[in-house]
Amino acid sequence: MTAGTVLLIAIPVLVVLAIVAFVTTSRRRDGQIVSDLSRETKRADRSESDVVDAADVEAEAKERYSETTPVEESAPAAAPAPRDPEEVGFTRRSLLNRGILASFTVAMSGFATASLAFCWPGAATGFGAKIAAGKLGDILDYIKANKAPYYVPEARSWVAPYPEEALGKAKGVYDDRLFDGYEAGIVALFQTCPHLGCRVPWCPSSQWFECPCHGSKYNRVGEKRGGPAPRGMDRFPVEIAGEKVSIDTGQRIPGPAIGVNTTGQEPEGPHCV
Ligand code: FES
Repeated sequence: MTAGTVLLIAIPVLVVLAIVAFVTTSRRRDGQIVSDLSRETKRADRSESDVVDAADVEAEAKERYSETTPVEESAPAAAPAPRDPEEVGFTRRSLLNRGILASFTVAMSGFATASLAFCWPGAATGFGAKIAAGKLGDILDYIKANKAPYYVPEARSWVAPYPEEALGKAKGVYDDRLFDGYEAGIVALFQTCPHLGCRVPWCPSSQWFECPCHGSKYNRVGEKRGGPAPRGMDRFPVEIAGEKVSIDTGQRIPGPAIGVNTTGQEPEGPHCV
């Protein structure tokens, strides 16, 4: 069993146990308050039963008075007595406990969701997950028609053409995860310069990528050809299902070492930088 599977099982179990423990504790506390109050009430009732009830005395006096004196007008009705919180079944403390329980449950649910998303990257969306780039045929048509790589903003990547004749040299140089894309004729290059992190634009005249910050230059497949960068452009594996292309931005593969030049592409015009 992998660590991820153990976490997937353990996190929901721990959350449920924590909620059960919290509910049990808060209920016990409520019950204690109610039983304490009940004892006081009982004691008060018991002591009241030993003395003469003032209300009875008053009622008896009124009855006697009404027999001798005609009633002129009735007394105004007494205001209703406030209801005992126990009778209502609801105290300020129980309200507070329920509020705390609700906040605790929401916080634990958020934590569990974030943990699951971390353990299960496939459930995530946006940069860091697999990003749909479109149909392979459409991407290749765009590249050919515009003589430029296809930009996928959500993946922060350029999809550039990878020539079939370079595949032989690429074997043994590049990570195996990149070959689904290479064999389909594409490579997904991370737009960020491996030198100091500037965004690397495409230079239409030289047909290379050229960094405006310190002048690093990369050929069409992101192999370093000049400037201070420590390696070629980083890249992502590409998955092709039928015609649909997706870029796995969760797996960033460092660019090739300085000196790797599998395509032999020279600049095709003036440099932009
Ligand atoms: S950041 Fe690109 S060359 Fe320095």
